Amino acid sequence: MADTQSNTSLKKKLQGKVSIVTGGASGIGEATARLFAEHGALAVVIADIQPEKSRSVAESIGPHLCSYVQCDVTDEEQAKAMIDWIVQTYGRLDIMFSNAGKISAAEQTVLDLDFSEFDSVMRVNARGMAVCVKQAARKMIEVGSRGAIVCTASVAAEMGGRKFTDYSMSKHAVLGLMRSCKQRGAYGIRVNCVSPSIVATPLAGVMGVRTAGDVQSIIGPLTSLKGVGLTAEHVAEAVLFLASDESAFVTGHNLVVDGGLICLPYTKM
Ligand SMILES: NC(=O)c1ccc[n+]([C@@H]2O[C@H](COP(=O)([O-])OP(=O)(O)OC[C@H]3O[C@@H](n4cnc5c(N)ncnc54)[C@H](O)[C@@H]3O)[C@@H](O)[C@H]2O)c1
Repeated sequence: MADTQSNTSLKKKLQGKVSIVTGGASGIGEATARLFAEHGALAVVIADIQPEKSRSVAESIGPHLCSYVQCDVTDEEQAKAMIDWIVQTYGRLDIMFSNAGKISAAEQTVLDLDFSEFDSVMRVNARGMAVCVKQAARKMIEVGSRGAIVCTASVAAEMGGRKFTDYSMSKHAVLGLMRSCKQRGAYGIRVNCVSPSIVATPLAGVMGVRTAGDVQSIIGPLTSLKGVGLTAEHVAEAVLFLASDESAFVTGHNLVVDGGLICLPYTKM
């Protein structure tokens, strides 16, 4: 029995770590918040703009472990206050999963770009990401934490598409931010990206992908890996790797989780 218990605890990858998950109310963020908690995190803080959904996720994970802070990631004062609160409450900050994002409701081909939608997408996906990375890195340096920062980019950061030009541009910007990690390497802070293809979440619903069946029928023919569709849990496992000490010498890396989609030269996306 004692052996079984110690084996179980050995498998936990985030023992005692204090983590933030932006956009944790839903989709990839929610799945990652759950996985961080399962892996022994001391605290998982969901930073989001959807109070009801966030509170419900936090309660189901366990109020002793998971909490919600209302935070619009585009607002630097809010992000700073959220991070200050975490360090005052838990005494440290080890992991920032900067994941909050959005996509335009319009198709946003280059010829039909709506610039109010464009500004809104860039504000959340590019500026919001930079705000969270900046404030988390500053706090990690202040408290002497050799922390891990993981940003959600996308396969849209590695390729162009027929639609959603602003989204693709915003995700290319996330890679640029991540690749500036040299600036923080001296402090021992690692910065990486995770880049999923398509997961059935409210965000992907805008692109017509609402169910696991949609993922299989729309993306399945384009991936080299067959018989499996991407889920939020698959992405969460990749984030866990990048957030944990298992990736202790990995920084400046974009971990694509796409079943071999972008390695196929001629896709229909
Ligand atoms: N679902 C996909 O197919 C897919 C593929 C590649 C990348 N992504 C990226 O994954 C990330 C998570 O998206 P998801 O698919 O889980 O979608 P989702 O809609 O389930 O979750 C997005 C979350 O971000 C939050 N959010 C939006 N704007 C915010 C803001 N200003 N401040 C704080 N929180 C904000 C939302 O409230 C929501 O909880 C996004 O960055 C998205 O671009 C998604």
